[in-house]
Amino acid sequence: MKKLTVAVLMLGCLSGEALAHEAGEFFMRAGTATVRPTEGSDNVLGMGGFSVSNNTQLGLTFDYMVTDNIGIELLAATPFRHKVGLGATGDLATVKQLPPTLMAQWYFGDAKSKARPYIGAGINYTTFFDTDFNQTGKDAGLTDLSVKDSWGAAGQVGLDYMVNDDWLLNMSVWYMDIDTEVKFKAGGEQQNINTRIDPWVFMFSAGYRF
Ligand code: NI
Repeated sequence: MKKLTVAVLMLGCLSGEALAHEAGEFFMRAGTATVRPTEGSDNVLGMGGFSVSNNTQLGLTFDYMVTDNIGIELLAATPFRHKVGLGATGDLATVKQLPPTLMAQWYFGDAKSKARPYIGAGINYTTFFDTDFNQTGKDAGLTDLSVKDSWGAAGQVGLDYMVNDDWLLNMSVWYMDIDTEVKFKAGGEQQNINTRIDPWVFMFSAGYRF
């Protein structure tokens, strides 16, 4: 990531005035996306709510400018991997998820601005897979783990800084409403636990426009 940033800054010095985010323009960004759940859940077997660990993956956005100020954006990423546990037991399971998100955005400034702050609102779909209890979970008699997919609203704020005509640097923060049901069996008895993930997602990326 450091090398990429340096390379982008060097490219920036070689060219003149930056123009960006004009109607009809397509660009994409790539960088780190960190999911930090603000989790909470129903009481699990009398031991309190689930904890869900943070995770960082490769984040990608695909963006299209409808006008000089209105954009639409699709967020994609490599699968996030979270450890799920309880305060009393520590980690019990790992869960992977993908949270594709479609946003409508408003970019402040105009096509000649070097800095384009923006806000967005949209919809998130999160699908969970590879849900497995670890040895601690198995030893506790837990089996048959599954996590229900979620639809919810998403909001974001971000900033694009145009380095030159083609390259930009970006930081953005998202809030996603992700609520699910965690299902498993404890000693053969079915458990359905309403669980709130509702993460903040922090992204640092470099972007290229076509
Ligand atoms: Ni929620």
